[in-house]
Amino acid sequence: MNTRQATSLSEEEQLYRNLTPTSHEYFVEGREYLPGADSRSPLFHPPYPVVLEEGEGCWLLDVDGNELLDFTGNHTSLVLGYKHPRVLEAVRRQLEKGTAFPGVTAPQVRLARSLCERMPSLERVRFTNSGTEAVMNAVRAARAFTGRHKIAKIEGGYNGSWDDVMVSTHPSGEQSGDVLRPVAAPASLGLNPASVGDVVVLPFNEAEAAARLIEQHGEHLAAVIVEPVLGSAGMIPAERGYLETLREVTKRLGVLLVFDEVVSFRVAYGGAEEHYGVTPDLTCLGKLIGGGFPLGVFGGRADIMAMFDPSHGRPRIPHPGSYNANPISLVAGAATLEVLTGEEIRRLNLRGESLRRQIRTAFEDAGIPAQVTGLGSLFAIHLTSRPVRSYRGTIGADAPLRHRIFLGLFNEGVLIDPRGVGSISAAVGEAEIDRFVVALKAVLRTLTGS
Ligand SMILES: Cc1ncc(COP(=O)(O)O)c(C=O)c1O
Repeated sequence: MNTRQATSLSEEEQLYRNLTPTSHEYFVEGREYLPGADSRSPLFHPPYPVVLEEGEGCWLLDVDGNELLDFTGNHTSLVLGYKHPRVLEAVRRQLEKGTAFPGVTAPQVRLARSLCERMPSLERVRFTNSGTEAVMNAVRAARAFTGRHKIAKIEGGYNGSWDDVMVSTHPSGEQSGDVLRPVAAPASLGLNPASVGDVVVLPFNEAEAAARLIEQHGEHLAAVIVEPVLGSAGMIPAERGYLETLREVTKRLGVLLVFDEVVSFRVAYGGAEEHYGVTPDLTCLGKLIGGGFPLGVFGGRADIMAMFDPSHGRPRIPHPGSYNANPISLVAGAATLEVLTGEEIRRLNLRGESLRRQIRTAFEDAGIPAQVTGLGSLFAIHLTSRPVRSYRGTIGADAPLRHRIFLGLFNEGVLIDPRGVGSISAAVGEAEIDRFVVALKAVLRTLTGS
């Protein structure tokens, strides 16, 4: 898009401003009505985010006519890319029939069957409108099933935007305490203090320390919830042995193990549980599972999920929701899963490995310390010389440099998440990977002055 002239953050930002005047107008107007001119806070970045208009495959068009090569996939939700014809066709057909009904629809049964056939942990599922709601219901089920009230979650893990898990999602160094006994730090003002008090925070990829904490709180713990690949902390995969340890200790103590696979599902045909060979009691899904429409899934052992069953009288756990299992999301999700075969996932994962390898080499060649993490088609860049095995390893990474690289990539026509994470959709081919790497090298050259 641009020849590299920006040699400082302020020049990079000026280039961004020159390319995005209409986005700026929307930002100024939007702020009159929306705090921060948007409804999704993690996506904000200075000076203002771009306003997007259209997407096709792995390309996005913004309101100023900039074409952007997309390595976000709406933050891993669009695993097939934008406007995939199979998804559009399924949605069109459903739109003609209706968008919401006061009863069961065939697409619900169809997608439930396809999920239960794919993932060993899923004996029964239920549908929600978001990953957040899926996690809420899974945690409620764990509390009801065990009769205990505390939950354990991972430091740096993001499991949705409700009180009980908005704890230690990205604590500052001062907030976080001993690395092997992290402190429970509220991630927002306005949380119920009782929620925060009932959370035990576990260190990621420290199996022994996590097991000790689970043992210590075992008699009060309903669930341990964990992302097999820590997503928003920067695509950090569980190391071999970690999830196995969580599985062993939770089983021994009667604590339910919940995998939050909202991001990690894509790493294997049967999700990360298949990749790691560890079967949780409950699983939560979201993002890609709705094929670009809002959908969440929670499910798992039939004996636990039976608590939601109203067919024998009042359910032990009611599960209302006006748009639960809305058919548009269900057919889009089903069409997505049909295309996302084992073969397609292997292809995506190879591309992901190739991209991570080339990003690593680009930073090494430029002499800029960086860690590239990820698994399958997920990747993240951490600007630090320390190995990144958990959220702690990301504290102290060079945030201003990350921002400059993010803007630089945008100015070169490549979009990643402002937090330095990204994913590859099935629409990304070798040519697009090459294009990403060329853009990154151009940005890194301006940083090193070479
Ligand atoms: C791992 C994980 N769990 C849960 C959620 C919440 O999903 P949603 O945004 O659909 O509420 C997210 C969202 O980013 C996530 O990354």
